[in-house]
Amino acid sequence: MCGIVAAVAERNVVPVLIEGLKRLEYRGYDSAGLALLNPTLTRLRSVGRVAELETQAKDQVAHHGIAHTRWATHGVPSERNAHPHVSGDLAVVHNGIIENYAELKAELIAAGFGFTSDTDTEVIAHLIRRTLHEVPDLTAAVQTAVTRLTGAYAIAVIREWEDRIVVARHGAPLLLGVAADGVYAASDAAALLQVTRQMIYLEDGDVAELTRGGVKIVGAGGTPVERPGVESALSADAVELGSYAHYMQKEIFEQPQALAATLELIGGAQTLSPNLFGAAAPELFDGVEAVLILACGTSFHAGLVARYWIEQLAGIPVSVEIASEYRYRASVPNPRQLVVAISQSGETADTLASVRHARNQGMPRTLALCNVPESAIVRECALRFLTRAGPEIGVASTKAFTTQLAALFLLALTLAKQAGRLAPPEEALYLASLRHLPVAVQKVLALAPSIAAWAPRFADKQHAIFLGRGLHYPIALEGALKLKEISYIHAEGYPAGELKHGPLALVDKEMPVVSIAPNDALLEKLKSNLKEVAARGGEMYVFADADSSVTEESGVHVLRLPEHYGLLSPVLHVVPLQLLAYQVALVKGTDVDKPRNLAKSVTVE
Ligand code: G6P
Repeated sequence: MCGIVAAVAERNVVPVLIEGLKRLEYRGYDSAGLALLNPTLTRLRSVGRVAELETQAKDQVAHHGIAHTRWATHGVPSERNAHPHVSGDLAVVHNGIIENYAELKAELIAAGFGFTSDTDTEVIAHLIRRTLHEVPDLTAAVQTAVTRLTGAYAIAVIREWEDRIVVARHGAPLLLGVAADGVYAASDAAALLQVTRQMIYLEDGDVAELTRGGVKIVGAGGTPVERPGVESALSADAVELGSYAHYMQKEIFEQPQALAATLELIGGAQTLSPNLFGAAAPELFDGVEAVLILACGTSFHAGLVARYWIEQLAGIPVSVEIASEYRYRASVPNPRQLVVAISQSGETADTLASVRHARNQGMPRTLALCNVPESAIVRECALRFLTRAGPEIGVASTKAFTTQLAALFLLALTLAKQAGRLAPPEEALYLASLRHLPVAVQKVLALAPSIAAWAPRFADKQHAIFLGRGLHYPIALEGALKLKEISYIHAEGYPAGELKHGPLALVDKEMPVVSIAPNDALLEKLKSNLKEVAARGGEMYVFADADSSVTEESGVHVLRLPEHYGLLSPVLHVVPLQLLAYQVALVKGTDVDKPRNLAKSVTVE
């Protein structure tokens, strides 16, 4: 989603701004722009890729600048709607949504301000300029102006002849990077690693003044505050593409390392301690009588798998809710419920709001399961488990999903143990099985060439159905989501038992049907479902286990995963579906890492 980079430094900041925007491209955007001070304003904007903006900016030199990638919310993607937005002598970039923008806009129009875009951001620019009439200091004016805003924002503001940049955040990510020659700000750390590793994470309500000499931060209460500096542990290599063609491909193939790194958190332990989820976990897990999982997108699918695990192993009822639905539903709170927020980015606005909603409903036992340390959701929750997938750049989530599954399995085991339902030998066996996952996933990745051979048969189709049963039903949903996200083929995931209740009507030779057929208790039932498809002339693509009794025949194509993996089988079975979506997108020639209309980190509702 929108990305911000800002810089005030001794050096020429233009290359830093451009490189920063490139690092944020993965978040998803449709236009880009920047504003520089020299000491008057120069604004450059373009629809499309940052590379175009780079060409426009190649002869520019400046020591102050703000830059932005825009993902359209208010107004179509166009140059006039691209940020920065200017009001007189000041310019603003913004990430987030201002909910009361219509009311503010009417007020500003009545006061004589003219608008040149359809955005909510232009309202912020005019509001700050109007505030400057009464509060002449830029930092103080921003502090006053933001009190009028309802919604989420991270903003950066520059003004002609001023030797400073003012930034503010509330509900959207923004961090500062402190270097020897100046101060930088960005939506995420990846954009600033080029200049520094010293980061300061701003809190909601903070307004900061950046100059070449340092940073002054004022908190929500209006008084100066100190925010701790953090050395970023992110490696610059982690965001390099290396020898891969796409980030998604790299991230699929990194899954063995991502799982191994995440499992390092338990070391060689034969037994789990609740402390894995935070110092307060023994107390907060005690007496948990239900689990509520909140998430969006792929993370929601991880939650659906976890429901099977936690209910089976720990005997605790689990509900899994799409965060954007839960937050607006009149649900029945249970104070003894553990609330688990799953989010790769830790910044998804709906997931964050749903956790706050749960807490406001009287449910303080909150656990964040995230891939980004210091993210908003991590800071919001009482407990945390940080997956170690490394930065995930491709919009379609892959390694974050499998590491979330590993973390959720650890949670299921921990709750099972607490409930007295996990004997030590069984626990040791499950842990050994988890530790073997990186090797097992590596073997599944070896199927890539066979999956690539299937891809052309999907590329000319309009629709596809994914079937799974039990634990693998969420994997069918995830396989369908991957295909639609990056290849734009309409795909539906279905529990195979539901086939006769609707989707069978769609099956003909134009409808590829992908089935997940592990060798588990539901295999025979699934085989009956497959026969129903075959009888309608459907073309079937089956991912079976080495020992599944599913045979290749006319209209039935079978690929076998090397080993059957019991309860952890979903972690393996999702991998070929990721590869299938990737290969189909390659054949179709879509933008794999930045699919149209989608954003990596959805920081608005
Ligand atoms: C966006 C991304 C998805 C992701 C979802 C939830 O839609 O494109 O890949 O699954 O957000 O994101 P989160 O960071 O909360 O896991």
